[in-house]
Amino acid sequence: MPETDGSTGTRGAPGAAPVIARTHISLLVRDPEASAAWFEDVLGMKVTARGPQWVFLSFGRKHHDLALIRAEDGAEQGGLGLQHYGLEIEGGVDALRRLYGMLLTKGVTVVKTTDHAIGLGVYFEDPDGNRFEFFAETVVDDEEATRLLGEHQAPSRTIDLDPLYS
Ligand SMILES: [Fe+2]
Repeated sequence: MPETDGSTGTRGAPGAAPVIARTHISLLVRDPEASAAWFEDVLGMKVTARGPQWVFLSFGRKHHDLALIRAEDGAEQGGLGLQHYGLEIEGGVDALRRLYGMLLTKGVTVVKTTDHAIGLGVYFEDPDGNRFEFFAETVVDDEEATRLLGEHQAPSRTIDLDPLYS
């Protein structure tokens, strides 16, 4: 017997799939205020709200895109959970090279620079070792990019990317 008649919006019903307008991410960090200053500096974010144990930051359009929450004392990065959070940039490969130069100038830990066949990525870490990726799409057609990712087995080939400093 079906679980629903298709009109109640419960599991299995038409229309039950979420329609996501945007995403945010929440990270456990050692020092929310220190990390907030880092995210303001490196990602150009703005603090929109704060409490004793947390800080919210925004890229400028919504109330928050990132929540920083104080971790338990002695907490460490583990092998499960978030691997990286990707930030698609505007401005193409030259903008990515400028951001790479900015990261290097600010002494940010850059993990790798990669070619994904459909774009280029620069991976870096926040002060707690949470990994982020700036990525610039080089294949702008999403259907074509999806096909290429499958065809090339979603590659992440290390490349030399020349940073720009202007
Ligand atoms: Fe990614």
